[in-house]
Formats: sequence, structure tokens, C-alpha cells
Amino acid sequence: MKYRSFGKLGITGSAFGLGCMRFNGPASGDSSIDEQKAISLIRHAIDGGVTYIDTAYVYLNRTSETVLGKALRDGYRDRVTIATKMPIDYVHSRADMEALFEEELRKLQTDHIDFYLMHAVNAERWERFKAIGAPEFFEELKQKGKIRYKCFSFHDDYPAFEKIIQDNDWDMVQIQYNFMDINYQAGTKGLELDGRLGIPVVIMEGLLGGRLAKAPSNVQALYDLFPVRRSPVEWAFRWLCNHPEVAVVLSGCNEMEQVDENLRIFDTVEPNIMTPAELKLMDDVREAYLSRTKIGCTDCRYCMPCPNGVNIPGTFAVWNKTSLYNTDPKEDNDLQGIINANAGADHCIGCGACEAQCPQHLNIIESLQSAWQDLGL
Ligand SMILES: NC(=O)c1ccc[n+]([C@@H]2O[C@H](COP(=O)([O-])OP(=O)(O)OC[C@H]3O[C@@H](n4cnc5c(N)ncnc54)[C@H](OP(=O)(O)O)[C@@H]3O)[C@@H](O)[C@H]2O)c1
Repeated sequence: MKYRSFGKLGITGSAFGLGCMRFNGPASGDSSIDEQKAISLIRHAIDGGVTYIDTAYVYLNRTSETVLGKALRDGYRDRVTIATKMPIDYVHSRADMEALFEEELRKLQTDHIDFYLMHAVNAERWERFKAIGAPEFFEELKQKGKIRYKCFSFHDDYPAFEKIIQDNDWDMVQIQYNFMDINYQAGTKGLELDGRLGIPVVIMEGLLGGRLAKAPSNVQALYDLFPVRRSPVEWAFRWLCNHPEVAVVLSGCNEMEQVDENLRIFDTVEPNIMTPAELKLMDDVREAYLSRTKIGCTDCRYCMPCPNGVNIPGTFAVWNKTSLYNTDPKEDNDLQGIINANAGADHCIGCGACEAQCPQHLNIIESLQSAWQDLGL
């Protein structure tokens, strides 16, 4: 495992940070965790050298912190830094913030949080955080040693990022970034601004929620032509770690094999190691993807649950998958499952609750109809 600097914080962290947002439960379950499997996976990652673990109050129906707390018993807590988050939709006052923070400590079975983040901040949420005194509350927690660092995770456009990052004294920022999102959300401009301000950066969605792990045929053809053979996952992480501003790359793993592969990859990646030919390959790969992707849904599930039961990320995943891999929707088991569960786009009533929550700002209502049509339904 390579360890990277958090710059002004004077600490290092594992280049691979384990994200606790996506642990698969039983195949039939939605957001339920196979607890024993998740605990083994977390401990395996730590035993392999991971020192940075990311969770949040809301992940996996608010069970992610609890499972992480159990995984960090037996001495594991002292081997890692924990990042967790406060969601603005659950706090409306100082008392709410105090209660939620204490609940998080209890669930995580710890007396302090290392990196405490205001969750999924955008321009509007930042105003709400400020209105209830969250910046002052975070500072007080820091002074009392209850948290070590004041941070935020970000989902909005670059102008909002530029404002928010300079509007408070932040210790770290978490942004969505990968070789596809160079001009999206904070993007490369945001990453470079962090570098200039000396604020360490943690990356989320480095594989676009797993989409960059499975190369479609036109992308795989480009990888195959390159003289050095690497998996799509390795190319994606290598590209991220090439950026010196990046402290940690989060990846949410569902299987031990994924942890093992990521441990191997993050043992080899360093800042500024990519050759011009490798960088050109990634530019070509980006173009190849863009030519086939239907919608930029990352399966973060912030849009769920839909009040009318539509499986929004599931529908978009099938739409993208059938386009990327040129497969027949009629033979798609996931699509069949959505139809059987009465969770298809034909059940959308256009209420827009999903669009208000989507960090990618997707036109969900319109796209659901296009997807359904494209899928021949
Ligand atoms: N604060 C926020 O607003 C926010 C938003 C999003 C994420 N996050 C945090 O950031 C973390 C990382 O984001 P993410 O989960 O989207 O990360 P990601 O790395 O983009 O995607 C994770 C998915 O990639 C696949 N994967 C990972 N390693 C693999 C490997 N070696 N081989 C093949 N596939 C692999 C798995 O997909 P399959 O399921 O297909 O196997 C896994 O579920 C989250 O867990 C969460 O903690 C925070």
C-alpha cells in the first residue's frame, strides 16, 4: 500500500480508502447488508494496509456506521481514521446536530471522529448549514477533540465549489472525480484550486460507481492495443493517483476479490507516473465511453426511495448497460426484475422528488421515459 500526504494536516493516509456505501446484502435485498461479510471485508482491507475508512449517517438505510462500528472492535479502530458525515436534511438546529453527532459516535463505537464532513454540500445546502451554525459547531467539536478535521463532501458545479471552499477554514474536501468527470462538478479546475489552497482532497466515485470497471468493447479494444496490459480498474485508479493533489481515493468494494485487486493496484500507484502515451490512452478511452453512455447516473441512490416505487438507478443502469455492451434488453434479468416488481418507468408520475435529490442534476423524469422507450417497453 502506498501512503500519501494530507499536506497541511501533517499526516498520511492509505492511497486506497474503503468506502462503506455499497456493501451488498443478500441478492434479494435493497440496501440491506450481509453484516458478517461486510465486517470481514473491512477487516481484510485494514489488514492489507487501508487506514482510511469512509461512511456516512445515511448510508445503507443508516446501518453503515453501525456495521463499521462492529468491524472496528478488537483493536481495529486504532489502526484507521474514520470519515463520516452530517446530512443537512436531518438537522435543523444546534440540538439536532448535537444529537446526531452523539448518535454517530455511539454507532461507530468511538469517542471521536477523525474527518467530519458536511455531507453532499451544494450551494443551497451550504446556506442551510451556515444558517443553523454548522461551521461554528464543527469548530467547537474540533476544539474539544471530538473531531480532528472539519471537512465537506461536494456535489455541485465549479462556481459553487469555488465559493464554498473559500467560505470556511476547511481541513479537507471530498469530491467526485475520475477520468470521465474532468469537467463535471468540481472537476479538474476544482482539484487544481484545492492544490493551490493547500487543502487535501479525497476522491469519491473514482470508478463512477463501478461503471469504469467494466470496459465496453470499444474501450477494451483501446486498452488491448496498449503495449502494457492493465485492468480497467487499474487504469482508472492509476489515472487518479497520477494527480499529486489527491490524498486518498475511495472505493466501495462488494467482494474480497475487489479489495485484493485494489490493494495490489494501490501498491503501485504514485503521483506523476503516467507517460504521455498513457495519458493519451485515457483521453481516447474517455471519448470512446462518451460515444456510448446514455446517462451519467452513478447509482448513488440519493434519489431513492421513489414515492411511487420506480427503481430509478436500476432502470438507468440497464439503459446504460444495454447501450455500452450492446446487449438485448429482453434478455436482461435486471430489467425483468424491475418489471416484475412494478418498478418501471411506466410507474413514474413526474412528481420530481428524485430530481431535487440527484447530485448529478439529471433530468430524471424525462430520461426515465426515454429509457423505457429505448428499451422497447
Ligand atoms: N459524500 C458523498 O456525497 C458521496 C457520494 C458518493 C460516494 N461517496 C463515498 O465514496 C465511496 C466511493 O464511491 P463509490 O462507492 O462510488 O466508489 P467507486 O470506486 O466509484 O465504485 C465502487 C464500485 O466499483 C466496483 N469496484 C470496486 N473495486 C473494484 C474492482 N477491483 N474490480 C471491479 N469492480 C470494482 C464495485 O462495483 P460492483 O458493485 O459493480 O461490483 C463497487 O461497488 C463510497 O463508498 C462512499 O463512501 C460519498
